[in-house]
Amino acid sequence: MSTATETMHPLKAAIENKTALVGIVGLGYVGLPLGRAFMDAGFTAMGFDVDQTKVDRLMRGESYIGHIEGAWFAERIKQEQFVPTADMTRLAEPDAILICVPTPLSSSRDPDLSYVEATTRKIAEVLRPGQLVVLESTTYPGTTRDVMLPILQESGLREGSDFFLAYSPEREDPGNIDFSADGIPKVVGGLDAMSLELALALYSKAVVKTVPVSSCEVAEACKILENTYRSINIAMVNELKVLFDRIGLDVWEVIEAAKTKPFGFQAFYPGPGLGGHCIPIDPFYLSWVARKYEMPTRFIELAGEINTSMPRYVVQRTVEALNNVGKPLRGSKVGVLGIAYKKDVDDPRESPSFKLMELLQEGGAVISYNDPHIPTLPSMRHYHVPRLASEPMTPDYLASLDCALIATDHSAYDWDMIVRYAPLVVDTRNATKNVKDDQHKIWKA
Ligand SMILES: NC(=O)c1ccc[n+]([C@@H]2O[C@H](COP(=O)([O-])OP(=O)(O)OC[C@H]3O[C@@H](n4cnc5c(N)ncnc54)[C@H](O)[C@@H]3O)[C@@H](O)[C@H]2O)c1
Repeated sequence: MSTATETMHPLKAAIENKTALVGIVGLGYVGLPLGRAFMDAGFTAMGFDVDQTKVDRLMRGESYIGHIEGAWFAERIKQEQFVPTADMTRLAEPDAILICVPTPLSSSRDPDLSYVEATTRKIAEVLRPGQLVVLESTTYPGTTRDVMLPILQESGLREGSDFFLAYSPEREDPGNIDFSADGIPKVVGGLDAMSLELALALYSKAVVKTVPVSSCEVAEACKILENTYRSINIAMVNELKVLFDRIGLDVWEVIEAAKTKPFGFQAFYPGPGLGGHCIPIDPFYLSWVARKYEMPTRFIELAGEINTSMPRYVVQRTVEALNNVGKPLRGSKVGVLGIAYKKDVDDPRESPSFKLMELLQEGGAVISYNDPHIPTLPSMRHYHVPRLASEPMTPDYLASLDCALIATDHSAYDWDMIVRYAPLVVDTRNATKNVKDDQHKIWKA
């Protein structure tokens, strides 16, 4: 008697009975949680990264990402459920390959797909019949079909019958304890019907919900829409923050009030500028592709302009705050609290704190910082700030400053203590909203 799985495509049958080997390429903020979701679901996984030190650290049971436990991966390695490697020739082994490599901007702010292309070439060199390849990195609509497919075709194998290709955007929100990789619905677009069917089958085993769409391009555009939506709405509240401040209104109080409307309003919050690997970058993937269609993306450009002007506004507020107590910026000791681009993560990529420090330094301030997640300042390509070490968060440190500038609202911070001991506080996150004493010291920015 034949069973349903005997008539299935062999890869689908392997997915159904969880014998399919899952390969994750790029073991970073996205790749590690994704691998964990598949292993939690009962699959065996291989992890590929060009950075041998990351592979070595995982082998030693160490994590290089704050909120991810090295011991968890060490245990899976011991049980032979996880194999990290820098050997790309082993890409022939997994049945499904999920690509989570960086997609940054070039120095001229155009999409830099070199990591995606390099990975695809490595896959093409060893591609074998029956493999499913899925791109998860954020990119513009058309990348999977126009950039990856021609490279994979160089293998001599045919898409849709020999190998399968799909796009499924990663929506990971590092540090968000309410949503882990397996709890976020996965949008999936396939190059053809079989690619879609296989990719859906795979993800449905590891995540709470799959959302099939009609093409890779729709799935690619979906991710960029999500991030552009955030960028534009953050820009809007940033602009309103400046306006409301002139009127003498507290933008955060206004947002809290607006939030009580049960429909038609979603709260976004102002801050010192955009950070991270996604929101400051991804919309420009879309504006790049729009230029090819001779269409300007004015919302995206305007949002970029407003968001990148925020650090200057914050420094200007810091100058006003110091001036109010009779101090010039030049020579004043300003401590930046929080270097990570958002709370409770150790990721400094694109963080506005670097721009803040650079501007403060240009104005003659003596800068220092504290971040419980970032013990020393990494060197950043675009910013010239000294390689400082995080100062201890003590009453003495705070009292030694002329101004504490809150750039990131880490949960570890004791806001009462910060306001008590720092002579002056500039707060870009409304972090001090519940502090009762010494309100006169606080300047929102
Ligand atoms: N970090 C986020 O919050 C987030 C959320 C959603 C989507 N994304 C997207 O996911 C992708 C990955 O982002 P990330 O934050 O995980 O980046 P990351 O820098 O943390 O990790 C990427 C990893 O890929 C490795 N790598 C680079 N080139 C490689 C290659 N040719 N072969 C194998 N490994 C290679 C790097 O060494 C690094 O370990 C990006 O497209 C990003 O836009 C990120």
